[in-house]
Amino acid sequence: MNILAFESSCDETAAAVVRDGRTVLSDAIASQADMHALYGGVVPEIASRKHVEAIAGLADAALAEAGLRKADVDAVAVTYGPGLIGALLVGVNFAKSVAYGLGVPLIPVHHVRGHISANYIAHPELEPPFVCLCVSGGTTLIVDVRDYTEMAVLGATRDDAAGECFDKVARVLGIGYPGGAPMDRLSRTGDAGRYAFPRVQVHDAPLDMSFSGLKTAAINLIHNARQKEEALDLPSLAASFSAAVSDMLVPRVMEAARRCGRRKVAVAGGVAANSHIRADLEAACAAAGCRLYLPPLSLCGDNGAMIGCQAYYEYLAGHTADMALNAYANRDI
Ligand code: KG4
Repeated sequence: MNILAFESSCDETAAAVVRDGRTVLSDAIASQADMHALYGGVVPEIASRKHVEAIAGLADAALAEAGLRKADVDAVAVTYGPGLIGALLVGVNFAKSVAYGLGVPLIPVHHVRGHISANYIAHPELEPPFVCLCVSGGTTLIVDVRDYTEMAVLGATRDDAAGECFDKVARVLGIGYPGGAPMDRLSRTGDAGRYAFPRVQVHDAPLDMSFSGLKTAAINLIHNARQKEEALDLPSLAASFSAAVSDMLVPRVMEAARRCGRRKVAVAGGVAANSHIRADLEAACAAAGCRLYLPPLSLCGDNGAMIGCQAYYEYLAGHTADMALNAYANRDI
């Protein structure tokens, strides 16, 4: 089954063809990050307009790269939420038109389910059940993946997403947008013990997380140093901050796996590229006797292949949509 999949929930427009859920025939992506970098963050209106400009060309590119004609497409899939509403609407309406024109089923895919599916592409042997840490610019969730389309949220951030914190602190430091990858690079030569950042516990919810205090602590530290004209050890600041984020995430996902009796732990989303989090998870999983599944960096960020992969399992579960499909800025997994 060849699924032509679209993703447009934030600042990447993507189209991919995935065969039978696990074989990626093509994966075309147009990033708008350079455009939004001018403003220090995603400007929703610009994002929507850039998706409009890019999506048809990417659909053609994905089919050409896969060596397929339009008639070879068996179904069309699209991210329908969560994300920026205007951005999502571009993908949803384009996908509806393609499905309508080709007379094939339309499969709506939850963005975070897509991120989880990136692991199926990277690890052909991986099957549910497993626990997945989903960390991106908009989401921080610990999910029990009971089956391909049956999931339960075990823990969630009460405020900011982890990626958003990286981006905001990087913006104050002036090291670029999106800020996670530059912070990660900067941290490599730093001392993670140099600056003391808070590790927050949410009362009565041990698997929930909170990042806003950590973000504020880092930003205050930078402002105070600037006011006093004190030099900051930037690599150590980035390393200490990354260690605090990792300390918030890793023990919780391990505790979630323990509670659910899962021996497999996966990671998903853009922040899954972080070297501190990856190293800490590797150590924690080795100590707990769990197998760790990390997607390659190329599949951590938004892409169409992950949507095409998850769409296959949604289709098998009977989850298709008609032409009334809408987009949703917020959507439970
Ligand atoms: O999954 P993604 O591409 O888009 C969303 O759905 O949000 O994630 C983007 C997020 C951004 O916040 C970005 O700064 C962060 O992932 N990110 C990282 C790293 N690479 C990307 N955060 C920490 N360390 C990284 N190496």
